[in-house]
Amino acid sequence: METAPFTVAIDGPAAAGKGTLSRAVAAQFGFGHLDTGLLYRAVGAQVLSGRDAVEAARSLDREALEDPALRTAEVAQAASKVAVIADVRAALLDFQRAFARRAGGAVLDGRDIGTVICPQAEVKLFVTASAEVRAGRRLAELQARGDTTDFETVLADVKARDARDSDRAEAPLRPADTAHVLDTSDMTIEDAVARAVGLVEAARS
Ligand code: C5P
Repeated sequence: METAPFTVAIDGPAAAGKGTLSRAVAAQFGFGHLDTGLLYRAVGAQVLSGRDAVEAARSLDREALEDPALRTAEVAQAASKVAVIADVRAALLDFQRAFARRAGGAVLDGRDIGTVICPQAEVKLFVTASAEVRAGRRLAELQARGDTTDFETVLADVKARDARDSDRAEAPLRPADTAHVLDTSDMTIEDAVARAVGLVEAARS
């Protein structure tokens, strides 16, 4: 028997912990998970290799999303630059909407899931933390992968992306009206996961 669609939308600024939370919620409930930032990163990476952004978005292949090279700060900046282009966003819309309403439930994390991609999502979370806390977490992740960048560089990167994502005309970063705002600055990941799981359980019962 197929289960009815159930969407958890997890939005928030760069390095707020959306990925960790989304994976934990998806695993807990057996939902599919789509990290929508990877779509923009894949387009950004292709632009860095000389391709046109809109063409890259229109012909995006799911296998390109697996590439570990998409995790670099350079690709993140390129992603936030292509993400302001309306035709790029439009080209990525149908895939995200279909994923959101797939049978068996879905968690999508990004910037505009609760506001644009799936306003009917059963649970909407807006996960945030101070820029300094987010930069510290991102630095630890990058260092674990052997990157030798420093805190000030990562902080500047996080702030530049925050500004670009919040100030753009198309699908700007902001909490949906009905989103639960989760500030994880002073929370452990376990606490944040417990809050998110509790909200999903409440919405399912
Ligand atoms: O989430 P992540 O940091 O991987 O996203 C990279 C960039 O992609 C963001 O800075 C943002 O500009 C863009 N993005 C977006 N909408 C989404 C997900 C990501 O505009 N739903």
